Amino acid sequence: MPDLDAAKDAKKFYEDVPMVTPGFFLKGSGALDWGMKNRLARIFSPESGRTVMLAIDHGYFQGPTTGLERIDLNIVPLIPYCDALMLTRGILRTTIAPAYQKPIVIRASGGPSVLKELSNEELAIDIEDVARLNVSMMAIQVFVGGEFETRSVHNMTRLVDMGLRYGIPVMAVTAVGREMVRDAKYFRLACRMCAELGAHVIKTYYVPEGFDTITASCPVPIVMAGGKKLPELDALTMAYNAVQEGASGVDMGRNIFQSDAPVAMIQAVRGVVHKNMKPAEALELYKSLR
Ligand code: R5P
Repeated sequence: MPDLDAAKDAKKFYEDVPMVTPGFFLKGSGALDWGMKNRLARIFSPESGRTVMLAIDHGYFQGPTTGLERIDLNIVPLIPYCDALMLTRGILRTTIAPAYQKPIVIRASGGPSVLKELSNEELAIDIEDVARLNVSMMAIQVFVGGEFETRSVHNMTRLVDMGLRYGIPVMAVTAVGREMVRDAKYFRLACRMCAELGAHVIKTYYVPEGFDTITASCPVPIVMAGGKKLPELDALTMAYNAVQEGASGVDMGRNIFQSDAPVAMIQAVRGVVHKNMKPAEALELYKSLR
């Protein structure tokens, strides 16, 4: 019988014992090839070991999301403050200047819109175009427990195989259906599955109970997804708790670009992620910059 993770109390996650990765600063990445490591070191700061990725790829399934109606006006001013930009190739080619210097994390899956079953995705870019665009990492949705779970996992493993051929890492995004429970038990399952099947980085949601067991049981770096817009202090607190509990940074969208002052908010998030700034201190920074 498979272990369905019923007895969490019997498990030992050793949350307070960091995993050692000889040869590289990023968890579980020591045995990767030079090109992979170099791309990851463009996204994650070798000094802090963390990243502030700005996610603006929402339009790939929900069209012009609030705050992303005009990326040229709303997002381009934020670029100096992010460590990496996560977006689609359509927005990259149309709206981001080729002189842009920071790493690109490209949306590599797609298909269904918000009007349909979201887990029914396919790969949505060819690896040659990824290389042509000088991409540093590919991002793909994985719907563990979703209707098309196997398809989305298979999309990820195919993308990992393509990425390995070209030295381009893959970030698996643990997508949660509307009806599904978002708790540590679910995210431990989803994150660990993605890592076991080859993802180099996992993007997942913060949960207030047991997030450290998710990071401890995942052998590759985890970045925290932002989710729906929260009051600024709550979003900064969530990011603070995530990095203190083992996340290697954040990949946030709405909590930055839907803020009243996105340029101030992204700088406050940077303080939390790279300088371990406490949430109240980061909120003061936000207020002083807005
Ligand atoms: C959603 O599927 C996209 O991958 C977004 O990039 C992701 O949800 C992060 O954006 P947000 O912080 O707005 O949740």
